Amino acid sequence: MSLKDQLVDKRLPSHVAIIMDGNGRWAKQRGNARVFGHKHGVKAVREVTEAAAELGIQYLTLYAFSTENWNRPKTEVDALMSLLVSTISSETSTLMKNNVRLNTIGNRESLPSGVQAKLQGCIEKTSSNTGLTLTLALSYSSRWEIIEAFKCVASKVKDSQMDINDINANLISDHLSTGGMPDPELMIRTSGEHRISNFLLWQLAYSELYFCDVLWPDFRRDDFYRALLNFQGRERRFGKTGDQIKK
Ligand code: IPE
Ligand code: IPE
Ligand code: MG
Repeated sequence: MSLKDQLVDKRLPSHVAIIMDGNGRWAKQRGNARVFGHKHGVKAVREVTEAAAELGIQYLTLYAFSTENWNRPKTEVDALMSLLVSTISSETSTLMKNNVRLNTIGNRESLPSGVQAKLQGCIEKTSSNTGLTLTLALSYSSRWEIIEAFKCVASKVKDSQMDINDINANLISDHLSTGGMPDPELMIRTSGEHRISNFLLWQLAYSELYFCDVLWPDFRRDDFYRALLNFQGRERRFGKTGDQIKK
């Protein structure tokens, strides 16, 4: 039986988040510049997006560029920004074909205006699609997002639009850039690194974490199915005992 056929439909996560890591090492192994790895990472994005859409997963969130990634050499940052523009141009048809809606989280204003315009065009074009919501985390970091949420809540309290006792977990979730989305049930990180790197700190509170050694440009549908199968084999307890869960 193929890996895909082993998946149990009703136990699929509704939201999968991925830290796409290892592009630079992939390129280095081949004696190439880091940007070569980023270019080859696009195929992995396409495969995972199509696989998630086909399976009926509702949300896929990909960490594409972190706040901290601005500290990389300017040549790499510039190359990543141009790649973003060309990828959106070439992949919008794939999104339309697969009924995928594009969304972004992160500090969009910090992106070059050309990137912002491309993103906006694609977001508008795909806005009526009803299948998978693909969220790209761009110029994103969880601490940035939490600071923004704090500022927003604090100003509402100050202007008496809200009482301090209205602050609860749901309200905080709603003020994050993922507001309205369920928390990811599964978070995948490629390339053998075992850390979160400032990604969805609040939202990952009870996510299952899956780490694999595959470098992102090599990540294919079967690697994605393997992660989902591993997820389906886990018992999610949310603080309860195993016996309580089995009832
Ligand atoms: C992930 O690959 C892509 C981005 C962070 C933009 P890296 O570029 O981090 O690749 P490694 O981790 O250096 O191999
Ligand atoms: C995390 O990867 C950010 C993205 C995948 C976009 P990094 O490669 O930047 O993370 P660290 O620096 O190894 O933690
Ligand atoms: Mg990395």
